[in-house]
Amino acid sequence: MKALVLAGGKGTRLRPITHTSAKQLVPIANKPILFYGLEAIAQAGIKQVGIIIGETGPEIREAVGSGKKWGLRVVYIPQSSPLGLAHAVKIAQPFIGKDSFVMYLGDNLLRDGIKDLAREFNLKKPNAQILLSRVPNPQSFGVAELSGGKVKALEEKPKKPKSDLALVGVYMFDSTIFKAVNSIRPSQRGELEITDAIQYLIDSKKLVTPYIVKGWWKDTGKLEDLLEANRLVLDSMQSRIDGWVDKKTKIDGKVVIEKGARVINSTIRGPAIIGEHAHVENSYVGPFTAIYHHSKLISSEIEHSIVLEHSTILSVRRVEDSLIGQNASLIQSSIKPAAYRVMIGDSSKIEVP
Ligand code: G1P
Repeated sequence: MKALVLAGGKGTRLRPITHTSAKQLVPIANKPILFYGLEAIAQAGIKQVGIIIGETGPEIREAVGSGKKWGLRVVYIPQSSPLGLAHAVKIAQPFIGKDSFVMYLGDNLLRDGIKDLAREFNLKKPNAQILLSRVPNPQSFGVAELSGGKVKALEEKPKKPKSDLALVGVYMFDSTIFKAVNSIRPSQRGELEITDAIQYLIDSKKLVTPYIVKGWWKDTGKLEDLLEANRLVLDSMQSRIDGWVDKKTKIDGKVVIEKGARVINSTIRGPAIIGEHAHVENSYVGPFTAIYHHSKLISSEIEHSIVLEHSTILSVRRVEDSLIGQNASLIQSSIKPAAYRVMIGDSSKIEVP
């Protein structure tokens, strides 16, 4: 079995972060989202991985490299433009050959990984196995209708969903999927939809089985989802202090402080993680916060937020529910007149008190 990981796409719902970097590399609890997927693939015993890359390809290649770190052999498959998930399958055919494979959307996170479902797929050998999860907002996903333990029909982002079973961004296929992706036509949004390709399998009387995921699943396409994924992952961490913490600092709950980090005269209330070489001084870090490497938090308070690398927060009274990009600065200044002085990226959102 091989794996096909999708790490292209434009990440429009995460702008401005995705103007400059890949959405799959945004860190959740200080680890790029994509790495959780690669770990899950490695844990399922899969070795050969093809990663579909788009505009952000160089960044993905730089982060993942040969895949050796996970015991994987990674090849990169460039997609000229984001023409849909089924198009990605189409261009991956030379890599997949006659093997069966798991297709994993690089911005999806599954608590329990894919080991059990890969085992079930290899045991039952259906033509496709789709993962489903009950959601309160099925309109935002592909939605499945089941009947007698089989998948009867699928619909992509329906206005009137026939169930609350959303398609999780992890699919297992045998090589019959190639006929399907070569037979369907682009959808109204101009993409070759994987949902239509699976529907093609159902219509051609192929066996498509459902697998309802037990643990949590998150598609991290939007800010709220990223914060929620961050919450879920932080909550499952073990405490570990590898950095330097002074005597005046108070640490409560599950907290990870990475090596090279310095925490001075502060309160860290977990679950929270402070990355390598980060600097926290005279500050409060509240629950569900991840501060990535080389960032600085000085005389400020932050909670329920993600701060990317090399950023600075200085003398800011309180930050909550926020995602702060790389090399960003959020600083209280004493320059008069007292005013907001900003350089805000395109499609940014800022709420001020
Ligand atoms: C894609 C699929 C959708 C699925 C979702 C899961 O949507 O088209 O069927 O439910 O991934 O993450 P997208 O996130 O690309 O809009």
